[in-house]
Amino acid sequence: MTEPYVVVLGNEKGGTGKSTIAMHLIVSLLKQGARVASVDLDARQGTLSHYIANRQRTQKEFANVIVPEHTAIFQSDHTDRIAAHQDEEQRFKTTLEFYREYDYIVIDTPGNDTFLSKLAHSFADTLITPLNDSFVDLDMLVRIEVGPVETLKLSTYAAMVWEQKKEKAHRSKGNIDWIVLRNRLTPLFSKNKEEMRKILSALSKRIGFRLLAGFCDRVIFRELFINGTTLLDLKDTGTAMTLSHVAARKELNDLLAALEMPVQKKLKTQNVA
Ligand SMILES: Nc1ncnc2c1ncn2[C@@H]1O[C@H](COP(=O)(O)OP(=O)(O)OP(=O)(O)O)[C@@H](O)[C@H]1O
Ligand SMILES: [Mg+2]
Repeated sequence: MTEPYVVVLGNEKGGTGKSTIAMHLIVSLLKQGARVASVDLDARQGTLSHYIANRQRTQKEFANVIVPEHTAIFQSDHTDRIAAHQDEEQRFKTTLEFYREYDYIVIDTPGNDTFLSKLAHSFADTLITPLNDSFVDLDMLVRIEVGPVETLKLSTYAAMVWEQKKEKAHRSKGNIDWIVLRNRLTPLFSKNKEEMRKILSALSKRIGFRLLAGFCDRVIFRELFINGTTLLDLKDTGTAMTLSHVAARKELNDLLAALEMPVQKKLKTQNVA
């Protein structure tokens, strides 16, 4: 039996679209017939858990709306730091073990630095880091200063990913496919946007991530949460499609194709077995 494929959504900056993209990925994989479990490591805020609870409500009305198996892992309340980390590591590993027969485990992490988040990064097969289109977000990867991109210093988040890549390689000789995508892009051309693109594409070679196109800034993303739905559920819930929905769906499908998740391969193996 193959191990579940682990996808982590991570960025220590808040509000960049991690939970929203996690939900879209979960639903896309479910709709392709994969067995998907989701894990919320941002349990205190609980955005993904609430998103899924909203989806369970919608499922009562629209049976086609599929819901993943879901767990939230809370931080330990041990006052001793080492005991707390051991406790959290235990909770995390028990969860992975519990979902060992699933095809995918999609893990949403908080927008800040926690032990659980670091640990999850070291188990990622694919790590997706959404960035909003601003230099404040870019500052999560490198310290933005005047000068050539080759000399920019890695910021804490990029350094952490680097550490977790080493940790994973050491543990299992595995690799992390790190994907950075720009979210909430404005359709207008701006000097800022072009400058971001140039820096990110130079950085992708230097620090080893794939740069993918994400989503434009669209109101629909803020509206979907309340019903726990995604752009992939509009037909199943009888929602009329607008031109903006169609454009957003295209962005989503392009992104899903570029992610190169091993769905087809896995499902084929299962059918043969
Ligand atoms: N492409 C988009 N267009 C418009 N709004 C978006 C887009 N992507 C996400 N949002 C909205 O931005 C807000 C933050 O998104 P989300 O909660 O997914 O980010 P996050 O990275 O998980 O945040 P946190 O770090 O707080 O967990 C939400 O209101 C969401 O609906
Ligand atoms: Mg979130």
